[in-house]
Amino acid sequence: MLIFKLYLTCGKKMTDSQGEVTPLELYEKLNVQGEKVRSLKTAKAEKAEIDTAVQLLLKLKTDYKHLTGQDYKAGCPPPENVVNQDNGSATDGIDEEDNVDPWNVSTSNAKGVDYDKLIVRFGSSKIEKELVDRIEKVTGQKPHRFLRRGIFFSHRDMHQVLDAYEKNKSFYLYTGRGPSSEAMHVGHLIPFIFTKWLQDVFDIPLVIQLTDDEKYLWKDLTIEECHRFAVENAKDIIACGFDVNKTFIFSDFDYMGSSPEFYRNVVKIQKHVTYNQVKGIFGFTDSDCIGKISFPAIQAAPSFSNSFPQIFGGRRDIQCLIPCAIDQDPYFRMTRDVAPRIGYPKPALLHSSFFPALQGAQTKMSASDANSSIFLTDTPKQIKNKVNKHAFSGGKDTVEEHRKFGGNPDVDVSFMYLTFFLDDDEQLEKIKQDYSSGALLTGELKKILIETLQPMIAQHQERRKQVTEETVKQFMTPRPLNFKL
Ligand code: TRP
Repeated sequence: MLIFKLYLTCGKKMTDSQGEVTPLELYEKLNVQGEKVRSLKTAKAEKAEIDTAVQLLLKLKTDYKHLTGQDYKAGCPPPENVVNQDNGSATDGIDEEDNVDPWNVSTSNAKGVDYDKLIVRFGSSKIEKELVDRIEKVTGQKPHRFLRRGIFFSHRDMHQVLDAYEKNKSFYLYTGRGPSSEAMHVGHLIPFIFTKWLQDVFDIPLVIQLTDDEKYLWKDLTIEECHRFAVENAKDIIACGFDVNKTFIFSDFDYMGSSPEFYRNVVKIQKHVTYNQVKGIFGFTDSDCIGKISFPAIQAAPSFSNSFPQIFGGRRDIQCLIPCAIDQDPYFRMTRDVAPRIGYPKPALLHSSFFPALQGAQTKMSASDANSSIFLTDTPKQIKNKVNKHAFSGGKDTVEEHRKFGGNPDVDVSFMYLTFFLDDDEQLEKIKQDYSSGALLTGELKKILIETLQPMIAQHQERRKQVTEETVKQFMTPRPLNFKL
């Protein structure tokens, strides 16, 4: 929860020598610079070097005061609702209803989280039509519906990735999953479906991190359980159709201990991020175990190509692109902050919105609430019952009213799910119009969704059945991959 409060303060940005920064980013920079000055002094460095560092510190302090209207104080992240006298309030009341961090997502708005505001708060960039067109031009492929429909809505440095790609400089993909249970639901597939598309159209290698260690640290589970969930989840991930010759899936418990290069990067990152910073980013408190406090370095490490010498032969300069849900952004803001300081390129990002719970877009689908989720193991009958019984409807109470006033697709969960899974743009548009006009009833809309989900999930189950222990082992063995850089 705390992290959300801190992000509230990020409603404004200013431009400094490194581009746009939010109060929290500036605060984190100040922490880093303060550390640097202290360590230079302790190490009795050259006077000129200390002076330069102090000057930068003073400049950052002035910027901070200008941006937040308050003095910087170590250990005190920018407080809630910071208002800069110069440009008035950028945090209006509505923001406070959205709560987004790696562990929680909720809003009081039935349409879901306000993603435009999130972009401002997180300091990322909107995926504009221009970027979607550019991806189409560079790959020669019709953009995935997640791009056409703004489901992946925010990015960092994607233009840079495409610039390099056009000059024949390739990149690799990195995504992941926290294996907290055996049961995966359709929402969990979103990043993987999209990552598979990216792998196909760009023809590039992919690493998938299964953070069984993270789940052990955060949940009441044993190491063995988390590791087993990692392997089980890997089967569902493989069933998304990844190319075994271009994909490495790893459990942290297995890979961390077997790869000196990976562990070296983890420690390098740990050395360059202070407790102050992770407190500011993740809201950790003094009573959180030290495993949690150091974990972000483990999620950051796969962003650097030399963590995988078997794939990249020790090269440290290969650009990484991370498709993920927006709630994972805090990890990668931290990663992007340390990258240049340890001599690595910053990873680029593509952020997706959340997959809404059946009960409504106020929260995302959660595996721990069976009625909020369509599981990948659900039978056609279960799918039908759940949609009919639980999918929040934007329709009117009676058929007469519905025919007269029409339904509201913006809050209707069945319609939202169709925007994720029904590929035909024209058909989707027609459904939207008919529903809004009242020509299409809620029951009929639900029927279309049921008939879209049933075959999709049955096919997934069929593909998962084909995934043998041997296949899992192949994907999870550190080995060279087949690609040209
Ligand atoms: N922390 C993520 C989760 O709990 C898992 C994860 C690890 C991840 N690395 C990632 C997700 C990279 C997206 C991209 O689900």
